[in-house]
Amino acid sequence: MRLALTTSLILALVLAACTKEQATDATAGVPEPAVAAEAAIDPVTGFKMTGDWELVRGNCTGCHSAKLVTQQRGTAQQWLTMIRWMQKTQNLWQFDPGTEERIIAYLAENYPPDAARRRAAIPPNLMPANPYSTASLD
Ligand code: HEC
Repeated sequence: MRLALTTSLILALVLAACTKEQATDATAGVPEPAVAAEAAIDPVTGFKMTGDWELVRGNCTGCHSAKLVTQQRGTAQQWLTMIRWMQKTQNLWQFDPGTEERIIAYLAENYPPDAARRRAAIPPNLMPANPYSTASLD
């Protein structure tokens, strides 16, 4: 009697586990929302392999490492400013407007400003005394 009870208890547990698994399987076919999928990283350049990444690779890795690009963050305007600076001072070529728009869209979308990348400034009352301060001399 006791054995039968134990056996049926185990059976019930196994059955419950199986039913649960089936419930999980039922949701397996539901497509994930697009935002959940992180773009794969190109092992050579480190660029996110999405959208116009090959256009950016073709135009932005000739003079310096792609890392200089991927470590940077910015709005579309900030990326444009960097491009203009390179065109003015670093011999970066001119882009036709369509190409430039696509490059900036890729950069602003994949490397946008990220508030969490920089810590907040330390409050003045928590800073150590400035050894170079001349304030105490007068
Ligand atoms: C013609 C050469 C050239 C090309 C092509 C080029 N850059 Fe640059 N870029 C430079 C030079 C030179 C520097 C300065 C490098 C340094 O300071 O060591 C630089 C610096 C940068 C920096 C760092 C700026 C900073 O404030 O630290 C970023 C970001 C950047 N480039 C992004 C890009 C992007 C995006 C592209 C493609 C649109 C690109 N570069 C294409 C020459 C180029």
